[in-house]
Amino acid sequence: MNKKYRKAIIAGNWKMNLLPSEVKSFAEELRHLLPKTKTCEVVLCAPYTHIPNLRRSLKDSRIYVGAQDLSLHDKGAFTGEISAAMLDDLSVHYVIVGHSERRQYHGETDFSVGDKAVAVLENGMSPIICVGESLEQRERGLTMEYVRYQTLAALSKIPDDKLRHCVIAYEPIWAIGTGKTASAQQAQEVCECIRRIIRERRGARLARSISILYGGSMSGKNALELLSMPDIDGGLIGGASLKPADFAQIIDAVAQVTGE
Ligand code: PGA
Repeated sequence: MNKKYRKAIIAGNWKMNLLPSEVKSFAEELRHLLPKTKTCEVVLCAPYTHIPNLRRSLKDSRIYVGAQDLSLHDKGAFTGEISAAMLDDLSVHYVIVGHSERRQYHGETDFSVGDKAVAVLENGMSPIICVGESLEQRERGLTMEYVRYQTLAALSKIPDDKLRHCVIAYEPIWAIGTGKTASAQQAQEVCECIRRIIRERRGARLARSISILYGGSMSGKNALELLSMPDIDGGLIGGASLKPADFAQIIDAVAQVTGE
């Protein structure tokens, strides 16, 4: 499908790394290294504690700030939680929802992922909705069925006029933080399947405009091959987003693919 209808997005997921005091020098270094691509949207999804510093350090840059999760609730007696409105008030643009680490260690379900995506959209931000199979599911041949189920559950409550602001990240669990990347063909096959599901359920126009990212040990070495695939519009990057030079190399791969 033609990539010109959608945004290329490279989003870093810092997870629980770096310190708030380290954000400024990181941002300065990244701004210095950033390739001059106009078409690629660059995002850094930071821990909540880092967001104000990151925001300040990225002022007047083309890099957006993202968060890694949010509460299902609007406000009230939910000790320790952070709401969508709080993130919006800090000028956050993107929020990751349903990352496999939240599903695995924090009881996130397909249905809470859907509700969280709605909360993000209602507050004017974009969710990066993560889906992906385990190694066991892949070995049993259940990848497409499982990803189909996760995608439909996450999108079921999102109306068409909001759906175009969603980003989907295909992240096979076995490839996250393991150094084992899905081959470009494996990643393309699943991203194409996700786009087909959206086309069948919500129409061709929405399907061709939604950015679908690949995540799982993406690095400067494999980014070009993955990003050259017709249905892979960008990446969700963990480990390689922690060093400005490594992250910039991945952004550079987008510039190469788009011929900038
Ligand atoms: P990784 O993480 O790039 O370190 O594999 C990706 C992710 O968890 O989003």
